This record gives sequence, structure tokens and C-alpha cells, in this order.
Amino acid sequence: MSTVNPYEVEGAVDYERLVLEFGIKKLTEEDLKQIKELAGELHPQLRRGIFFAHRDLKWCLDEYKKGNKFFLYTGRGPSGPIHLGHVGTWRFVKWLQDVFDVDLWFQFTDDEKFLFKQDKSYEEIQDWTYENMLDVIALGFDPKKTHFLIDTKHAGIMYPEAIKVAKKITTSQVKGAFGFTDSNNIGSIFYTAMQTVPAFLPNVLRNENRPCLIPLGVDQDPHFRISRDVIEKLGHKKPAILHAKFMTPMTGGEGKQSTDKGGEGKDILLTDDPKTVKKKINKYAFSGGQDTVEEHRKLGGNPDIDVACQWMQYFEDDDEKLQEMYDKYRKGELLSGEVKAMLIDKINEFLAEHQKRRKEAENQIEDFLYKPE
Ligand code: TRP
Repeated sequence: MSTVNPYEVEGAVDYERLVLEFGIKKLTEEDLKQIKELAGELHPQLRRGIFFAHRDLKWCLDEYKKGNKFFLYTGRGPSGPIHLGHVGTWRFVKWLQDVFDVDLWFQFTDDEKFLFKQDKSYEEIQDWTYENMLDVIALGFDPKKTHFLIDTKHAGIMYPEAIKVAKKITTSQVKGAFGFTDSNNIGSIFYTAMQTVPAFLPNVLRNENRPCLIPLGVDQDPHFRISRDVIEKLGHKKPAILHAKFMTPMTGGEGKQSTDKGGEGKDILLTDDPKTVKKKINKYAFSGGQDTVEEHRKLGGNPDIDVACQWMQYFEDDDEKLQEMYDKYRKGELLSGEVKAMLIDKINEFLAEHQKRRKEAENQIEDFLYKPE
């Protein structure tokens, strides 16, 4: 049995089971059709089932169709460097912002990471907040339509709403959803209220009544499973949610990539240089191929467990090319090393551009921080 909640992702993740356990809905052909109709195209991560489930998506899109545009909300807990696993989701969020032409509210939960990471000081978390903001900006979000909320810096506008949320959530609900015990610190019990606030805060600040759409990694769902009802009790609409699967970890399997669980030193960081990327992929990326070239030519490989093949889903947008690659790999015509080489090129191409923009982002932070209008 695996565990999936915001504070623990353990074991092989069974997404079918999560759908039942969390009470979320799988995206259907019908849902995808509606997105395509409104967006004009379907993002590869939708075509490939990486974003696989939702809550209330149809309502959110119906409102959009009627002219009531949603706003997007997602976030980052700044406790360390950003790795490739995070970026997939945010590139998808950027696509949503572009095709639907909507605002994005991006929360940096420095309070959360301070409370939950026993070994990290407040100052360290502040440094990571800054570093992580650079990476988010470098992904190309529209500064006019993107608003950063840093929990400790925007506390003045967030806290009045957070206490309204907190008053309606019990300690036992939080314990149940996150697996907390009596020895958890009291800040960690309150925190879920802070993560709830941006799902309706823009409407409070702007005196509007827009739907909220939250794209997230499925492990974050429990916060909103608890708080959607609370949001409604406070007189706002429940947010819609789009759930993503985890990007396969470097060393294979069906868990989540994590820099603080053995991933250290193996994950591809957004600040890695081309040589480091090459070294890490060649050394650590789990291979679905055979032990020798001879056997591989004869028996073929398994792209479904081969990390380079899996990661190509995020870097090769052309469905036909991707399919051809998988087919050839299965037949043994493509070797693991060859797929790795293609992946290394794609990643380095992406990182070269990213690192250039990351440098420019140093002067853009002010444009992204939310300021009362
Ligand atoms: N708690 C998330 C993390 O640890 C950050 C976060 C805040 C978030 N608000 C969110 C993630 C909304 C998804 C959606 O990374």
C-alpha cells in the first residue's frame, strides 16, 4: 500500500486507487474535447494522460464559455532547488495562462517549509524563496497577469481570510488527511488554512466572483479535499482542480521525485550545466533495456519503465515522433544510450534558454510580487 499526501509520497503510486480514495474524477474524452474546443489545441500533457483527473472542471469551463473567466492558482514550497519534476506542471500552467488568457496567482509557502523542515532555518527558506521565484519567472509567465504571494510577506492580506478558514477545520480532520499526530507542531496544523486562501483571495481583493482553477500534483489534493467545503461555507465557489501524475523519478519506479529523499545529487536541477546533465542521465537514469546490446537487439526494451523514454513525454511534443521512438525501442532498434542522448540534448536545449531568462529574472521580481491595486 502506498501513501500519498502533501507530506509523504511513499511506495508505488496507484493512480486508479487514488481516484477512488480522494473522490476525484478521471478526465474523459468529453472533458478533453471541451478543453480543446475552448483552447484551440490540447497540450501534450493532456493528450498523454499526465494531467489525468479533476474536480469540477466542467463547471469551470462552462463559466469560461459564458464569459466568466477563471483565474489560475498554484504554488511552491521553497525548501530547496527546483528540479525537472516541478517544471512539467508549471510549463502546463503557462500554457493554460496563454491559451485562456487568464491571471495566475502563485503562492510561495515559506511558512509551510519553515514549519515542516526541521533542519532548515528561516533565513535559508527565504533564500530558497528568492531562488525559486527566479525559476518560476524564467518559465515565461506574463508579468501583467501573474501575481506572487509569499505567505510571510503577504500575511497582512492573507491572515484575515486564513483565520476564517481555520475556524471551520478541526484538528482531527487535519490529522486524518495528512497523517499528523499529537507531536506535530501547532503551526503545521494551521498551515492548510494558508494554502486555502489563494483559492478565493483574488475575488475578495477585486470584489469579483470568478471560478478558480488549481493545477497541482495529485499529492496536494488533500488540502483542498478538506477546504473546498469550507470555501463554500464562507460564501465563495469551490475551486476546480486539475491533477497531475508525478514525473517518473530518475532511478525509476512510480513514486515522486524528491530532492530530500535520496534524489539529492541525482535529480536534474534547473541550474545544472550541460556536462552535469549528461553525467547524471547517463549514470542514474533507470534503463528499461537489456543488459547487453546483443540481447537488446534481440529482445527489445520496455519504454514504459525506461526513464529516458518516459521523460521524453515532457520534451517531445510531436506525438508521432514519440510513438516512433517507443516502437523502435521496443523492437530493439533503439538502444537506451541512444534515447538518453536524445533526452540530454532536449534538456540542455531547454536549460540553456531557461538559464538565460533566469538571469534576467533578477530584475523582474518586483513586477511579479502582488501589490494591492
Ligand atoms: N504546498 C505546496 C508545496 O509544498 C505549495 C503550494 C501552495 C501549492 N499552494 C499550492 C501547490 C496550490 C499546488 C497548488 O510545494
